Amino acid sequence: MGYAAPAKWFHWITVALMLVALPTGIVIEHIRDADKMRFYAIHESAGLTTFLVALARLAYRLRNPPPEASHQPRLFRLAATTVHHALYAALIVQPVLGFLATNAFGFPLRGQTAYLGFIHLPRFMETNVPLAEALLAAHLWLGWVIAALLVLHVSAVVFHQAIRRDGTLDRMI
Ligand code: HEM
Repeated sequence: MGYAAPAKWFHWITVALMLVALPTGIVIEHIRDADKMRFYAIHESAGLTTFLVALARLAYRLRNPPPEASHQPRLFRLAATTVHHALYAALIVQPVLGFLATNAFGFPLRGQTAYLGFIHLPRFMETNVPLAEALLAAHLWLGWVIAALLVLHVSAVVFHQAIRRDGTLDRMI
């Protein structure tokens, strides 16, 4: 038995958002001048949308638990659950860190970096550069943790697909 349709939608929308947020986050420091603000706007909008989708997804998951995986060895189930839970936590914490960092730097999601280009959010705090730098450092560190978790996650899917041939990918498509 596979995941229900809403769980699949949540999953693949999250994948699409990650495909925007991660690469723009990685290259942003190399972008110069005029284009930089456009990159920030795209990265921050993808990040905040990821946060909103993750909240809706977790609310849905509380009422609709994932399908059984009792055919899998206990160790595999433990590894999968650990990575899945870590990803959920990261999907919530990472956008919050980024959002607070932008506020502490004095660049909230307004003007050129309005959410989705037109939604201007209020400022949540006064400019505080030392705090902003600490939040940004945590945001960068967690970004690499997410990348590592995704390598593990996708490697596991490839392993199930190519070696165990147990239809794990079919549960999510
Ligand atoms: C090409 C990329 C990806 C593939 C092929 C893929 C595939 C899958 C599959 C097959 C499952 C179901 C595992 C099972 O049967 O228990 C799954 C679950 C999951 N995936 Fe992915 N995934 C991808 C990317 C991502 C990304 C980018 C994220 C989040 C950042 C993510 C987060 C999750 C989570 C949290 C679950 C657990 C769902 C639950 O049980 O609630 N995946 N993925």
